[in-house]
Amino acid sequence: MQTIFVKDYDEMSKKAFEVLKEVIEENKEPVLSLNTGGTPRGLFKYLVEGINNGLDISNATIFNLDEYVGPKNAVYTVRTYMYENLFNLIQNQPKQAYLIDGETANPDQEIERYKELLSQNKRDIQILGLGTNGHIGANEPGTPFDSTMFLAEHEESTVQSTMKEYGITREEAPTEMFTLGFSEILDAEKVLLLVSGAHKAEAVKAFLEGEITPDCPVTALRNHDNVIVIIDEAAASLL
Ligand code: GLP
Repeated sequence: MQTIFVKDYDEMSKKAFEVLKEVIEENKEPVLSLNTGGTPRGLFKYLVEGINNGLDISNATIFNLDEYVGPKNAVYTVRTYMYENLFNLIQNQPKQAYLIDGETANPDQEIERYKELLSQNKRDIQILGLGTNGHIGANEPGTPFDSTMFLAEHEESTVQSTMKEYGITREEAPTEMFTLGFSEILDAEKVLLLVSGAHKAEAVKAFLEGEITPDCPVTALRNHDNVIVIIDEAAASLL
């Protein structure tokens, strides 16, 4: 595992873009699994800039780490985020973008469909953020390390984070989410974890200094041999 300590959010975002850019440039047909939320907003900004300045993604296939259950165009969906932070802002589109349908009437079928696509497209990179309780994707504490894509229930702390991030009420906030399991996350060639902010400091400490246990989901990454973690000063403050 390579741990990179940076000063602040912007430096984390820039470094993350460098890693992602290299993966895009080094692979003929890059397969990228992206995450959303507060953490990667800066990375998306640099990615958009890069693409509009000639970074070629015309052979890239894009997946998402997770998707909230709710109306497709709701303010909080990963789909909405991907359009607002990427697809609507770039002149040249990726070859393929596979979005999870959070509005489906048949969750099991949607999971099977997405799993099939994942099995046909090994990811060159999986980007991750970190939940304050140590979750990755929506693999909340207690999720077995052999989980495959599933429909997850959020812990209350996760619902609260979603409300804050998207400025929505408890009633409006989604409580369930489709998520890649540990199996699909760890199946990526490279995993890039981004962490910024003092509210993540405890989770960072448990990740780097605690034992490897499903009680702290992110510790599963310590079993993967190609992980890059970028942590800013505030998130590293308890180390
Ligand atoms: C959320 C999402 C993840 C996200 C993580 C961190 O609940 N399920 O996709 O990476 O928690 O979110 P944020 O970056 O907004 O702190």
